[in-house]
Amino acid sequence: MVVFRSREAVKHDHDDQPITPSSFDTSEVWERNAKGYDKEVGWDEVIMGIGLMRRWLVGHAKGDVLEVSVGTGRNFDYYKADQIDTATFTDRHEPMLNEARSKFEQYKEKFHKTFVQFKTANVDQPQTMDKGKYDTVIDTFGLCSCANPAEALVSLADACKSEDSRILLLEHGRSHYGWLNRLLDTNLDNHVKRYGCWWNRDVMGLFEEEKVKEKLEIETVSRWHFGTTCYIVAKPKKNAH
Ligand SMILES: C[S@@+](CC[C@H](N)C(=O)[O-])C[C@H]1O[C@@H](n2cnc3c(N)ncnc32)[C@H](O)[C@@H]1O
Repeated sequence: MVVFRSREAVKHDHDDQPITPSSFDTSEVWERNAKGYDKEVGWDEVIMGIGLMRRWLVGHAKGDVLEVSVGTGRNFDYYKADQIDTATFTDRHEPMLNEARSKFEQYKEKFHKTFVQFKTANVDQPQTMDKGKYDTVIDTFGLCSCANPAEALVSLADACKSEDSRILLLEHGRSHYGWLNRLLDTNLDNHVKRYGCWWNRDVMGLFEEEKVKEKLEIETVSRWHFGTTCYIVAKPKKNAH
């Protein structure tokens, strides 16, 4: 009984409120983590085969390409530059974008025929995003990091030039398995504060939200790592771009 009451007390303690994007802005996390980001995620990505998934996905980019939430530019290796006319790399956080800019120095030769630009843009704020300009729009592990992932998907659809454009996504979130979701839920606060990542999001559920359904449809999807990693090719709906 005492234990039960203590638990209730903790539950109602103000400091114990679950963390949400409106109660915690992750900007300072990205500013703090930018320099060490590649080292932090490098081995995890190797063990999980993420490099191969990036290669499959990003190899499809062609024409005028937008990559949002580009981070430190971990996809640069995988672009086939000869199929790309222009490449626009954006992120909300200048320290991450700066890491991408300096990494890009190694790829200048590969992209020598491509017009490349880096810009600050917030996927949660449509007014900062380009509209109707791109053949390929890419986001890898970005939906877990922004405040409003459904709004972000709408922004990605709006960035497309035509219904022939494609949105290429590699994202992570909730699993097929309850036991794993419980772990993600329980450790959410610490994870967000340490990594700026809302790792328990229902990525596939976002595509069921009305405003997302109006704008885009999924062409192919495959899920990996107990369902937590989602490889998605989507396209804007006719007349919705
Ligand atoms: C997990 S990292 C992924 C970076 C990169 N896409 C990759 O695959 O390695 C998430 C990125 O999203 C960026 N980000 C967070 N919130 C954002 C927002 N609202 N708009 C645009 N980028 C955002 C962060 O600055 C960070 O660079």
